[in-house]
Amino acid sequence: MKNTQEACRDLAQEARVLLDQMTREEKIHLIVGRGSFDTHPVERLGVPSIRMTDGPLGVRVCAAGVEGIDVEEDRHTTAFPSGSAMAATWNRELIHEAAAAMGRETRATGSDILLGPGVNIVRSPLCGRTFEYFGEDPYLAGELGVAYVEGLQSQGVGCSVKHFACNNYEVERRRMSSEVDERALREIYLYAFEKIVKEADPWTLMPAYNRIRGVFATDQEYLMNDIARDEWGFRGIFVSDWTAVHSLVDSIRAGCDLEMPGLQANDRAYRRPALVQDQLLEWGLEDEDIDVLAVRMIELALKCREGRAMAGADWKVATPEAAETSYRTAVESMVLLKNEDNVLPLQPDTLKTVALIGPNIDTENMSGGGSSTVLPPYYISPLKGLREALPDDCEILAVEGYEAASGDRPEDDPRWSKALEAAQRADAVVFCGGYSDAYESEGMDRPDLQLPGAQNALLERLLDIQENTVVVLHTGSSVAMPWADRARAIVLAHYPGMCGGRALADILTGAVNPSGKLSATFYRSIEDCSAWPIPTPATREVWYGDGLFVGYRHAEARGVDPLFPFGHGLSYTTFAYRDLELPEAIPAGEPLQVRFTVTNTGEAAGMEAAQVYVGDCECSLPRPVKELKGFEKIELAPGESKTVSVTIDPRDFCFYDPVQMDWVLEPGLFEISVGASSADIRLTRHCRVG
Ligand code: GLC
Repeated sequence: MKNTQEACRDLAQEARVLLDQMTREEKIHLIVGRGSFDTHPVERLGVPSIRMTDGPLGVRVCAAGVEGIDVEEDRHTTAFPSGSAMAATWNRELIHEAAAAMGRETRATGSDILLGPGVNIVRSPLCGRTFEYFGEDPYLAGELGVAYVEGLQSQGVGCSVKHFACNNYEVERRRMSSEVDERALREIYLYAFEKIVKEADPWTLMPAYNRIRGVFATDQEYLMNDIARDEWGFRGIFVSDWTAVHSLVDSIRAGCDLEMPGLQANDRAYRRPALVQDQLLEWGLEDEDIDVLAVRMIELALKCREGRAMAGADWKVATPEAAETSYRTAVESMVLLKNEDNVLPLQPDTLKTVALIGPNIDTENMSGGGSSTVLPPYYISPLKGLREALPDDCEILAVEGYEAASGDRPEDDPRWSKALEAAQRADAVVFCGGYSDAYESEGMDRPDLQLPGAQNALLERLLDIQENTVVVLHTGSSVAMPWADRARAIVLAHYPGMCGGRALADILTGAVNPSGKLSATFYRSIEDCSAWPIPTPATREVWYGDGLFVGYRHAEARGVDPLFPFGHGLSYTTFAYRDLELPEAIPAGEPLQVRFTVTNTGEAAGMEAAQVYVGDCECSLPRPVKELKGFEKIELAPGESKTVSVTIDPRDFCFYDPVQMDWVLEPGLFEISVGASSADIRLTRHCRVG
């Protein structure tokens, strides 16, 4: 059995041989798509068309638009929880399993590449695609991005890590320029892409719509050729975001291998063969310029050919096993933000009446909007989930759909009084609110952190009436909670995918102990966020003046007290940390082995995502107070203890020096902090490095 290196070398050699047999016309057709989601084959040489479909939260059956794919319009696929939810699981193995399931469904629907994961850093919670991305921390996004790509590609299906790079807002995304300094670019915005390239060998990366420092991502030779290829050793291809190519010669020379969508779906494609011929003859484009891209496209097509051969005959879409994976991802993603006086878990045997109130109790609220949309075979809403989980003799008073403020007197809406009456009668209230794909979506940013409509006003009234009110929020990231001090229980459900209601009910009733932890800071107000003010449609440049100080890095450096900090999440049990062991000193270039023990000191079995942060005590340049550089999620029975080992990579002690244009370790003292969140540090030791 050839090892990966040998196999790749063989494919590269085979691609070279095939390239030498191709006409110029055939090569030009390789670097521009054919239809909406596929590429041109070279049939006489056995080079197949490459077929793609969206992710990253399951397979969006858009391949139906691709010639020759017999996909029924209503082909249903498994809807997994959103990216921010996957990140909140802090569970590498689970994300690997979910992505592998997506890989099988990608293949079963006739595609070779799933367009995901999205790993852009959540700089502003208002960005419309925060629900798709893996949170605010580069290390967390990188680690889970690696798990996702390895899981997906283990099934012979390629990924497309997106959007490369600095796609941190949606307003005017096709024109805006991200003005970011070199340290922030390297240490924050490229870090996850770099980790994935170096550790997971992704088949493709997707350059974004936006500009970086004034240059469109698809023309960014510095990012694609110089950094990704020459520095990181990226061996895959760059597939443009759809209609994101803005030049012919520049995008080719910059290393953007494939323009999408294809000629049949984009009559303004730059790489129209006749135009490319002209450029080759008249304007200084060389055949070699085309060959460099074409040979990589051939190699990718050969990988796809091999991947098809791997497919199991029994690979189907929307299997019960995939649904189970989606459910477990949802249940491990939900974050218990607050639980005063153990209001949760609900005690089903003492509950006679539960009022389920709010706009999201029975609507299909699996995900935010845009290209990540999936069409699942079913959706378990909170109402359906609670009905399943609660005893038959427990009455559920469902008052759904209350959201739009009717004028400035919401109380005039008949649903308002119905909701209050239900709350009055019930033993407990579960409010399900937050957003939906109408408020969080690709192509738009939220205007503020406020919950839509009169949700806040209604919540205040419910809290007046019923002290046993549990607030459940569907959202991609931070929302303002003016009632947070009054609510005794708050659960972040993210966008939980097709089994979300069952996962939520199991968390609320205690059938499952919550273990999710925030993948992004929740702010008290948007002015507390480093990205404020957010860009407006009139903006043309977004100045990343916060530099490295994004999310908790900003909050800790600037003394901002968040509503809920990065890495925060409660459990129905408690955990104690002890016995932190690490060497007092290590030589430069050596990894640091960190060991500590976690004990379940409560009555219920549970899972804990233990976090390891590193702070540079003596750096000559500004650095964040501390940065996440390790984590492990462990399962513990009541009273059980486990020793956790985490290895800090030597590179993670370094900072990027913009003068030397390289990663630099300044020998000195580093603080190693271990805890349950960025703001709940339990153990601290120091280590001299170098
Ligand atoms: C979209 C998105 C990208 C998606 C692509 C194909 O505009 O930005 O994430 O994969 O086009 O649908």
